[in-house]
Amino acid sequence: MKIWLLVFLPWWAWAQPADELDAELLQRYQQLQQNESARVVAVRKGRERAVLCKYCHGEDGNGGPGNTPILAGQNPLYLVHQLERFATGKRKRYVMEKLAQNLSHEEKVNLALYYASVEQKPATFDADKAKAGQPLFASHCTTCHGEHGMGQKGFARIAGQKPEYVKNTLLNFRKDSEKRFSPEMQAITKTLNEAELEQIAHYVASLGQP
Ligand code: HEC
Ligand code: HEC
Repeated sequence: MKIWLLVFLPWWAWAQPADELDAELLQRYQQLQQNESARVVAVRKGRERAVLCKYCHGEDGNGGPGNTPILAGQNPLYLVHQLERFATGKRKRYVMEKLAQNLSHEEKVNLALYYASVEQKPATFDADKAKAGQPLFASHCTTCHGEHGMGQKGFARIAGQKPEYVKNTLLNFRKDSEKRFSPEMQAITKTLNEAELEQIAHYVASLGQP
């Protein structure tokens, strides 16, 4: 695995997930990162727009059923990117595609900044599985998602995410899923079995706790 990783590293270091973002969308996002008062307004508008989302993602992006990801505290660049992917059909989930198609660039950025600004609540996890998952996480996941899974650049925060959602997502990536294709995640998950993916999911859920 280690040798294999080294072969692919230069390409990964170069290809950032957000590289494919619409230029106008990225520009709007970057402008708000540099302008504090405009960002405060964007977060407020995002909170107002999020009434549509709370039925599934919970009142503040921390709730919802096990197959629905926590949005609170997520990396905002990753959120913008995923909303764009749903809107363009690159990531498939009927309701999310329809909702994202109806969001303007401005609304996508506002929603992303709002959810990123909310504090994530601790997830529940199995302590034994989490312990077994720790070394697997350290050797397979930190290059992109960060040493503590907090996300960086365009890569998702996975720390504190629901273990059911993480496990299902990992299994889908491994299956060549039409729903969500990622060459990086597919290659990595193919080197791990289902029990290992579950252990990693519980370790990931244990991260980012206060
Ligand atoms: C009917 C339920 C439902 C509603 C309403 C809904 N979502 Fe979702 N959303 C989901 C599910 C389920 C997923 C996970 C899809 C998957 O497994 O790939 C998801 C995924 C996402 C993701 C990807 C998160 C990640 O970690 O990759 C984002 C971002 C998102 N939703 C934002 C929103 C926003 C913003 C709204 C409101 C405009 C919204 N959702 C409304 C069900 C919903
Ligand atoms: C080479 C970089 C790279 C490595 C290493 C990597 N990932 Fe990822 N990961 C990605 C990218 C890129 C995405 C976004 C894929 C997309 O847009 O659909 C992603 C997405 C994810 C998601 C979906 C997040 C969400 O909220 O839906 C999870 C969960 C995840 N990775 C877990 C892991 C775990 C666990 C490991 C280690 C076993 C790992 N990743 C290793 C690049 C990587």
